[in-house]
Amino acid sequence: MIQIKVDRKYLDRFVSTEEIDTIAGEVIDAQKTLNTGSGKGNDFLGWVTLPNEIDNDLIARIKHDADLIAQKAKVYVVIGIGGSYLGARAVIEALQSELSVLETNRTRPYIIYAGHTLSEDYYAKLIEILDKTDYALTVISKSGTTTEPAVAFRILKNHLEKKYGIEEARTRIIAITDQKKGALHDIAHKEGYQMYVIPDNVGGRYSVLTPVGLLPIAVAGYDIEALVKGAQEMQSVVTQEISIYDNPALLYAAIRNILYRKGKNIEMMVAYEPTLRFVAEWWKQLYGESEGKDGKGILPHSVTFTTDLHSMGQYIQDGERIIMETVLKVNTSNSYVNIPYDEADGDGLNYLQQKTLTEINHCALEGTAIAHVDGGVPVTTIEMDNINENVIGQLFYMMEYACGVSGYMLKVNPFDQPGVEAYKRNMFHLLGKKGY
Ligand code: PA5
Repeated sequence: MIQIKVDRKYLDRFVSTEEIDTIAGEVIDAQKTLNTGSGKGNDFLGWVTLPNEIDNDLIARIKHDADLIAQKAKVYVVIGIGGSYLGARAVIEALQSELSVLETNRTRPYIIYAGHTLSEDYYAKLIEILDKTDYALTVISKSGTTTEPAVAFRILKNHLEKKYGIEEARTRIIAITDQKKGALHDIAHKEGYQMYVIPDNVGGRYSVLTPVGLLPIAVAGYDIEALVKGAQEMQSVVTQEISIYDNPALLYAAIRNILYRKGKNIEMMVAYEPTLRFVAEWWKQLYGESEGKDGKGILPHSVTFTTDLHSMGQYIQDGERIIMETVLKVNTSNSYVNIPYDEADGDGLNYLQQKTLTEINHCALEGTAIAHVDGGVPVTTIEMDNINENVIGQLFYMMEYACGVSGYMLKVNPFDQPGVEAYKRNMFHLLGKKGY
């Protein structure tokens, strides 16, 4: 069952049904281009049918390896950057509290990240922690040549080998990379590491349902079958050429493109659950790298409310009118915290005593949405029942599909990222790399 709904209740002043009807033909054309593989970048469309093609043997192998890792490691280091890291982090952080790091009774490894930064202080602290902790790692790079994860892997491979000896270190490393080529592929073969393959036709930012996302998520102890099932459920709905109003991915693509054409150049993803912060980071990478090219594209931005109402709230309410908001609304929480009654009521909060924190959070959401609409900010709500693996699988597939459709509506190639190369060329030149 689909547990995600695109709600237009705060959009009346900004997007009319007539406008959606008018753009619908364009949206459906873009959908056809995606479904038939007739558009730009069509050699990277493996993700479209991926959920239904995931092999049970692969899932079983990932779960088996994840359990072995969980038996020997307290910490699991995931080395990767961009699409080779954000999907796993988004799912894991959505499902665990940021306070989990302080839990003393963990039964699964704590996942930490490397290869996403070149900060010397970050690696110094990481090594200090890994000196004292049992750990294992996975290194993820589709190209196998990206500098940041390659540097991190060189540092940690050396550390792991010194800590456990070369033979044991080999059992603690899993490489996820191309089937045939790349420096990482070659090292993994030479060292005899266990390997998983990233399919040729799936780009980094669409790879969360490959071992790139599934292995770290399984190591963290989350239900990858439910995640995949969620994606399958969404695939079976959004890929259908049904009415745009019954297709959440198409409706979302239509709304954001109507607003973009009205000058709303920035899309602010708003989460009211702090655990969804990295879902927004994943979405930013997906949309930023897919759409931002040829001088076009909506700038994806994100905030966590109510926290950021006390920082970005002023700008959103009252700054330049170029922002649209996409709010992630979670209907139910997974737990309950009592707001205690206080006889003296010195803080004047007894009026909240009959409410749950989730009800208070929802009032904040509604009050903020009404205020922002009054301030000229269109608010689209993406409503979900709960945060769990199944819902996240649905949300991720819906967002991927809407991104492919939106990219084709913009007439760009949503599956390449030529702009990312520019900084690399300069960096290599400055570092004195041969050939630059
Ligand atoms: O989405 C993408 O394609 C990129 O963000 C890549 O995932 C990122 O640049 C890392 O690339 P690689 O996996 O080749 O190291």
